Amino acid sequence: MAPTTVAARPAPSDDKRWRQVDVRMRRLGYRPDGLIEVLHTAQEAFGYLDDEALHYIGDCLGVPPSMVYGVATFYSHFTLEPQGEHTCVVCTGTACYINGAGALVKELEARLGAHPGETTADGKVSVLAARCLGACSMAPAVVVDGEVYGKVGPERLLGILEEL
Ligand code: FES
Repeated sequence: MAPTTVAARPAPSDDKRWRQVDVRMRRLGYRPDGLIEVLHTAQEAFGYLDDEALHYIGDCLGVPPSMVYGVATFYSHFTLEPQGEHTCVVCTGTACYINGAGALVKELEARLGAHPGETTADGKVSVLAARCLGACSMAPAVVVDGEVYGKVGPERLLGILEEL
């Protein structure tokens, strides 16, 4: 018997990163056994998994919260707390990559000393890379503390981060 699937429901907010999570769930047919993959996608997009994300994903996949929390806390790869004070997600999907995302990542490595997946030594900024933020027409796109910035060059990105 096919597993019971729930289905799409409105994302918790209009943050474009939810689209990434929604696309992944849709591709997996909202199957409960896609949970780990969807959690990976959400963590890649947001940097960590908060209550809202865990509940939303669980609801969409028809997985009870206890099991979602169980999986999210069992694997050390998942983190339930933001690591840095701020998060800077650089999209390295195809459209962004060909429009200069690589230079953004290099600049962050050179100026902040943080590679994607790392937090600056002062704990201020966690740098993350995402596959597609759903804002390809604005490539290269970055999301800083939940806000999407499009057509960002290295200097502008550093300016945005300096203002934090
Ligand atoms: S590839 Fe970067 S937003 Fe789509």
